[in-house]
Amino acid sequence: MGPHPHHHHSSPFHSIMTRRAALSVALGSVGSILLAACGTQGSEGSSASSTGSSPASSPSVSPLASSSSAAGSATPTASATPSDSPSVTPSGSPSESQAASASPATAHPSVESSPESLRCLVNKMRPFAQIDWEPNDLVDFEGQQLRAEAARAAHTMMDAAKAEGVTLTVSSAYRSYAVQQQTYQHWVSVNGQRLADQLSARPGYSEHQTGLAIDFSSPEGCRLEECYEDTRAGRWLAKNAPNYGFILRFPKGQQAITGYLFEPWHYRYLGKDLASRYTVSGAGTLEEFLGTGAAPDYAS
Ligand code: DAL
Ligand code: ZN
Repeated sequence: MGPHPHHHHSSPFHSIMTRRAALSVALGSVGSILLAACGTQGSEGSSASSTGSSPASSPSVSPLASSSSAAGSATPTASATPSDSPSVTPSGSPSESQAASASPATAHPSVESSPESLRCLVNKMRPFAQIDWEPNDLVDFEGQQLRAEAARAAHTMMDAAKAEGVTLTVSSAYRSYAVQQQTYQHWVSVNGQRLADQLSARPGYSEHQTGLAIDFSSPEGCRLEECYEDTRAGRWLAKNAPNYGFILRFPKGQQAITGYLFEPWHYRYLGKDLASRYTVSGAGTLEEFLGTGAAPDYAS
């Protein structure tokens, strides 16, 4: 087992865009977004450290490998220390404790700061408040780990796919802070920081650390590659995953919002109810659905 770093190849220039331009994209009502992530911010300086072996080697197909190594030297900590402000919640939205049923059908549910909430959101603007936070209900899952409820739902989904002749396998599930640190560093060493930041989250900023994210694969190949979209597994997931509580977290063409290139293999567990509402809402991203605004890049 190992970090299972994402690797990408595909067309070199498919999504290298100006990330500054992306900053102008704002979906939510919050203008200056330095949100207290799935929790409060300001806990930088975690002593969590990298341990163990180096990341599992993988085909080092590296788009822009020769031209993207001159990345900036941004550090994985936020430069500002915003308060854990209630303004994170868009005005007019129900508070975190209110039931979804209290909302009009058109209202989007609000983000929740607690990392164990199914409405939590982790992205480049929303690191874990406790940077090395770990779920307390991890279970064994396909040789890895995942939070219990997500694991049950994933198995139900994988069984359903199988019944339709589609084999889903798991490339990566829960990743701890330390594992993510190795994963990210692997991609920095392969691709340079600039590209790595479009593929792999810095430690403390990965949805995989919630225990609610899965990178699927399949015997058809295209593991962690964009062509996974066109495999039977990829197509089955795109069509059916929401019925089992999972959504495609990094859709095509949404890098300005999510901060990442298209990842047709990465699914996030929301639970059936929220996933259904997500689909009905027509939201293009989880950021939009939860009303947080875009997270194209790190604050620093
Ligand atoms: N590849 C996703 C963004 C992660 O590293 O969490
Ligand atoms: Zn992933």
